[in-house]
Amino acid sequence: MKEIIPLTFNVKDLEEQARTDGLACYILGRSYDSGENGVDQDLEKAVYWYEEGARKNDPRAIYGLAACYDFGDGVEQDKKKAYELFVDAYPKLLNLMEEEQRNPERQAFSIFCLGAYYYFGFGDVIEDKTKAFELINDAAEKGHIAAIYDLGANFYYTGTGTNQDLEKSRYYLELAASYNLPRAKSKLLEYQDTYQKKRQIMIKAIIYQSKTGHTKEYAETLSKELKIPCYSVSDAKEKINKKEEIIYLSWIRATTLVGYKKINKKYQIICLGAVGAYPKSKEYIKQLKEYNHITQELFYFRGGINYEKLNKFYQKLLKLVGKAITMENPRDKEMTRLFENGGNFVNKKHLKPMIDYIKGVTNV
Ligand SMILES: Cc1cc2nc3c(=O)[nH]c(=O)nc-3n(C[C@H](O)[C@H](O)[C@H](O)COP(=O)(O)O)c2cc1C
Repeated sequence: MKEIIPLTFNVKDLEEQARTDGLACYILGRSYDSGENGVDQDLEKAVYWYEEGARKNDPRAIYGLAACYDFGDGVEQDKKKAYELFVDAYPKLLNLMEEEQRNPERQAFSIFCLGAYYYFGFGDVIEDKTKAFELINDAAEKGHIAAIYDLGANFYYTGTGTNQDLEKSRYYLELAASYNLPRAKSKLLEYQDTYQKKRQIMIKAIIYQSKTGHTKEYAETLSKELKIPCYSVSDAKEKINKKEEIIYLSWIRATTLVGYKKINKKYQIICLGAVGAYPKSKEYIKQLKEYNHITQELFYFRGGINYEKLNKFYQKLLKLVGKAITMENPRDKEMTRLFENGGNFVNKKHLKPMIDYIKGVTNV
């Protein structure tokens, strides 16, 4: 990670500079707005300094004032006025960002404001959390302390606009706290248990059960991505001790997640993958969870049907199931074809939500 030196200011110096500098007014506004740079939160003072900056036509201060009207902070909430101010500040903000190219420390503040436009969808800007993350991350790298705080308290903690990463969340909050930001200190206390829990999870293996190879393929790809060994259920008997923490992947047979009951008694399953022939849907995942009494996080990966690897009995059974599905939904051509000829829908992209989840709750 890039080394970051947070920017902090002396309020007395800022007051001096605020006579001529709109940015100093904005930073004073921010300081009273959010309790930064050693002052206590005082929303009325925040509005006073934003108004001072707005009189100097500083787009960051106009934005700050707009946000006060939008949330009703230090003024009576007025969404219409907020909208007008946001729209007024927006093009000026873009110009300023351009002008400040050679001065990253000043530019950090306009980038941060633009990030907030995308985060909340202020003015005519359409909400875009990914864009917001990119801008706030850029502002943080330039030393903007509230951006550093936001990366830790929000973006990386919740996985908003980026992948969840509790290590990074803690790193940014600790950095902000070490530069005397009180709200970073309280967030660290609030998140302490979650950080602690994450460190304690040690996934020993990915254990899978596969009849025709689709689940095995997902398990092997996952194993490479996460650098955790994978074993079939029979191999795991020798390699993995009881009660160890594992990920379990298996195939679906008549709505049953094969082997789940037994494996759940033997190991501590952190999360599960179910591989089936049906298309993925929220309703189907819910049905699988209820039917199998699953308590852990369940992910669904579409496998397929491979008739060559099934015995005559299963082949016949599946053809019958296929006929029933076709009778129920004659227009579902994809399913009709799948049950008639077989097919393969395995795609490593389907694993992403599970990988993100595991990275979020463990140290892998
Ligand atoms: C007897 C039998 C019943 C099945 N029942 C279901 C089912 O209820 N839901 C589903 O999505 N897929 C069902 N399938 C499809 C398998 O889950 C699918 O072929 C899966 O990709 C198999 O994984 P594998 O290749 O790892 O064995 C069934 C397959 C067989 C052979």
